[in-house]
Amino acid sequence: MERCRRLVREMGEEAGHPLKAIAVTFGCQMNARDSEKLRGILREVGYGEAESEEEADFVIYNTCTVRENANLHVYGRLGKLVSEKRKKPHLVVALCGCMMQEEQVVEKIRRSFPVVDLIFGTHNLFRFPELLLMALSGRKRVIEIWEGTDRIVEDLPVERKYPFKSGVNIMFGCNNFCSYCIVPYVRGRERSREPEAILGEIRRLADDGVKEIMLLGQNVNSYGKTLAEPVSFAELLKMVCRVDGIERVRFMTSHPKDLSDALIEVMAEEEKICRHLHLPVQSGSSRILAAMNRRYTREKYLGLVGRIREKMPDLSLTTDIIVGFPGETEEDFRDTLSLVREAGYDSAFTFLYSKRTGTPAAKMEDQVPEEVMHERFERLLEAVKETAEERCSRFTGRTMDVLVEEVNKEPGYVSGRISHNLTVHFPGSPDLIGSVVPVKLDTCKGFYYIGSRKETV
Ligand code: 5AD
Ligand code: SF4
Repeated sequence: MERCRRLVREMGEEAGHPLKAIAVTFGCQMNARDSEKLRGILREVGYGEAESEEEADFVIYNTCTVRENANLHVYGRLGKLVSEKRKKPHLVVALCGCMMQEEQVVEKIRRSFPVVDLIFGTHNLFRFPELLLMALSGRKRVIEIWEGTDRIVEDLPVERKYPFKSGVNIMFGCNNFCSYCIVPYVRGRERSREPEAILGEIRRLADDGVKEIMLLGQNVNSYGKTLAEPVSFAELLKMVCRVDGIERVRFMTSHPKDLSDALIEVMAEEEKICRHLHLPVQSGSSRILAAMNRRYTREKYLGLVGRIREKMPDLSLTTDIIVGFPGETEEDFRDTLSLVREAGYDSAFTFLYSKRTGTPAAKMEDQVPEEVMHERFERLLEAVKETAEERCSRFTGRTMDVLVEEVNKEPGYVSGRISHNLTVHFPGSPDLIGSVVPVKLDTCKGFYYIGSRKETV
């Protein structure tokens, strides 16, 4: 670190201004959290924060490869950096994240993108300071990818985006091998952090003013199974709720096959746990679910939703759905539409199936034609919109606690979220940011509310 710091200082003196860096995130919440670690390290070695690539002396893209589009986007952005580097020859460009765990991607970058100076993957992010030093001092390309790891490195410096909320990794990797998904190949096998390490981090965050935490993992419901002394996710949640100062606890993502009744019980009992569950269904057809290797049926999923709603009738339920998985017929797709109506989602992330090389689904016959996929996608959006708008309006007229997160584009307004994860915009001053205040939800505008606050004297 010290040597890196000296080098950054010297390079700044040479350039005639203090150096600035930007870390750009693609993809999921796990990547967003990793980027906070990258920013923490960049700050430690002396980089200031740049607002854009144009302003930066160091650019790092933390990439995602879950769908083909994400990859294409990164290539596009790299293309633009070529002209930046012409203007600023001292510009250093780095790539990391899931895309880099794919051999053919690294090969393509090696061949076609000389603009890139440093490449590392998901398993050796903690080596960023050393790799950065090598890239800065050698001025030659540094590429280090690990195939996998069983290590979890604690206590990396972190630069948090929000002072009042934070993600906390509880596990890394995934063992589920859904047949369409590349994540198990690029993120490796499931590894859980020790509960004491997680609780220690959360206590420090609470001392630092954090009120809301989001426990992160590809499949939080199987947390703790591989620990020397196994701890269930339900037990971990209970312990997390005991941490003073933390007011809200969220988590992501839950796999329906592993969601236990004990977890439903803890969610219903613990007031700090937010009334929101993200429960990806992927498809409403049991036949397609089997081909996806999801290991539940439509009936099992709906049964689970029924048990959850019995305990927490007003819970917000959200999901992920893939349209156009190989072999999906019109009838299978109609099963998805009817499931959307039956489950009553507050919102859904909908995706066009994207073929990922190396996954079993990529080799399946009956890939669905593009135009059929797009047509189904539009119909799905419509169905989601209808049910979601109806469901989201259920709190109209009620006063609910809002964690205020940011200033709104609309002058004089701020925005925040209720426990159920719905957004509320209301007139208020920026000094409310980071506090939880009661707000009356006056009007529902589809997916969000406009509210008002009784001024307290
Ligand atoms: N094509 C389309 N969507 C995908 N997802 C994962 N892999 C693919 C793919 N190959 C979606 C799933 C998952 C979400 C994070 O991304 O719905 O839940
Ligand atoms: Fe991918 Fe399935 Fe693992 Fe989620 S649970 S990361 S969809 S393999």
